[in-house]
Amino acid sequence: MKKQKTASKPVERARILVLHGPNLNLLGTREPEHYGRVTLSDINMALARMAEVAEVDLDAFQSNHEGALIERVHAAREQGVRAIIINPAAYTHTSVALRDALAAVAIPFVEVHLSNVHVREAFRQHSYFSDLAVGVICGLGHQGYLAALEYLLNKINIE
Ligand code: DQA
Repeated sequence: MKKQKTASKPVERARILVLHGPNLNLLGTREPEHYGRVTLSDINMALARMAEVAEVDLDAFQSNHEGALIERVHAAREQGVRAIIINPAAYTHTSVALRDALAAVAIPFVEVHLSNVHVREAFRQHSYFSDLAVGVICGLGHQGYLAALEYLLNKINIE
């Protein structure tokens, strides 16, 4: 009997979303004493390289608009995004709406800040996100994003 060819099903790659809040498009020139000189596109490229090696799909999205970030979080659920890395930037300290979006989609996320918010102004020391986050990284500059991705890649692999 002739052996029937079975079409091999393409393996679905896990998907991770990186969200950058307001003013992070200015990284590289924005208050380098706090945020360093690495640009947002440098950060996204380093993350993309790491994701590619791990065979994971990575999307990065930056917006200066709260509603756009919220809508990207909603879309993440439809797309089956497994985990989110988010630097909500100034929305960290103000946005109940973005917090509620993350709570609504229930996708695990890591909160990242380039600067150590705990040694800065008092208003930066409250986050609307930290108690929902899997973890929080701050003060490690651009390396914080890579640490967050490394953690999530391991987490996805063992799940
Ligand atoms: C930031 C810290 C926030 O307080 C600030 O508003 C930012 C960037 C950080 O990455 O250190 O825009 O999230």
